[in-house]
Amino acid sequence: MEIDTGLVEVLQHARHVAVLTGAGVSAESGIPTFRDAQTGMWARFSPEDLASPEAFRRNPQLVWEWYAWRRELVAHAVPNPGHLALAELERHVPRITLITQNVDGLHQRAGSSAPIELHGNIGRVTCSVEGTVVDRWAASADDLPPRCPRCGAYLRPDVVWFGELLPAAALAAAWEAAQSCDLFLSVGTSGLVEPAASLPRLALQAGATVAVINLDVTTAARPPLYTINAPSGVLLPALLRAAWPG
Ligand code: APR
Repeated sequence: MEIDTGLVEVLQHARHVAVLTGAGVSAESGIPTFRDAQTGMWARFSPEDLASPEAFRRNPQLVWEWYAWRRELVAHAVPNPGHLALAELERHVPRITLITQNVDGLHQRAGSSAPIELHGNIGRVTCSVEGTVVDRWAASADDLPPRCPRCGAYLRPDVVWFGELLPAAALAAAWEAAQSCDLFLSVGTSGLVEPAASLPRLALQAGATVAVINLDVTTAARPPLYTINAPSGVLLPALLRAAWPG
């Protein structure tokens, strides 16, 4: 795969690379993206129907079961070469800030040390009233969602739903990284959901080089903006091999 030598050189000399990933990075691990049609029994729902406080109030069991289905999907998925390349970046670049909108935990499983999880992680569960993480609860097949062992309220996935605020510390760290990096890679995200969608522009305004890696990139670009139409699982390993052939 031919990669622009200008981009490769920026990567080779970067002191701080910030990466924003979206569902596209996990697509090659078999996890459907948000813009993919939902499948099976979930085909008649859109994520907006299920991933919101209103949906949880209206039908907590349905929302809990959708996340249980997604947790199952993730449990059977493995990190793909794109995740592994991003983890390997840490061995070559003095500072990497990995910011993800994904809640599947695949970056951690690929070896990335401390991803910023802007939208949370479905591997964690919290009390819907106290907001604190709950590690263990009494399993009950006929009362879903399970209840908080402390206060009895429903448990919920530790993810940011539509209409909810992002974790302030995560957002602040992402903002700082976008404004201090030399190179910002936006990978596998449609860039439709704020505030994550503003990060690449923030980086560009702060003087960084920005590369958008996606499957539906249409805008023509010129340095310091690069757009690459390629699957992340192919492009990211190729980018690393081009920068560090040894
Ligand atoms: N390689 C690179 N990009 C890919 C690949 C791939 N193999 N497969 C799909 N894509 C691209 C698609 O073209 C699309 O632009 O990934 C993008 C996925 O976009 P979305 O499905 O909108 O996912 P994302 O951008 O992560 O959504 C952001 O929206 O639904 C909310 O909270 C949810 O975190 C999510 C947020």
